[in-house]
Amino acid sequence: MLKFNKNFFVRDISDKRYKHIIGVIESSKNLAERYNIDKKKVFIAAALHDIAKEIHINGRDLKKIFKNDRYLIKIPPVWHSFIGSLIAKERFKITDNEILDAIKYHTTGHPEMNEIAKIIFIADFIEPGRKYKECIDVRKKLKGKMELDKILLLVLEKKLIYLINNNKIIHPYAINLWNKLRSRF
Ligand SMILES: [Fe+2]
Ligand SMILES: [Fe+2]
Repeated sequence: MLKFNKNFFVRDISDKRYKHIIGVIESSKNLAERYNIDKKKVFIAAALHDIAKEIHINGRDLKKIFKNDRYLIKIPPVWHSFIGSLIAKERFKITDNEILDAIKYHTTGHPEMNEIAKIIFIADFIEPGRKYKECIDVRKKLKGKMELDKILLLVLEKKLIYLINNNKIIHPYAINLWNKLRSRF
């Protein structure tokens, strides 16, 4: 079992990030229990999801890694999720694709994202350290018994509205996920 404490990430994360990760672990554990999803996998994905958030990656390496994706290179806030998945595989020897994909898609989402990825995507948005109105709204709605994909859609909607209002580029994975969920509900 993966042991988790601050030393685990030494030099890679700040106290602020550490607190956020603890929050994501807590929220994702609650969601995993509620929706009956593998708690061990959810824990590992939550613990590692922001592993690359505060590391510096040089531009040349980024271009190499993202060479097949013309949008990714233009959206710096999502780089850490894709790089994080690579670090989880290389440094932490995670081989489970569900966990790796959960780390990889925790910022953009993905139309084919697995249940663990959905949990991390939601938990990252609603963890107790998040204080803005949109998160509080989602947390309130969670008190009812809502289908997991409906919460996913709600979180995605809040994120997309933010991106549009701030004139940001939206990765096609997020748009495709939106279309998939929107055509269901
Ligand atoms: Fe993140
Ligand atoms: Fe995060």
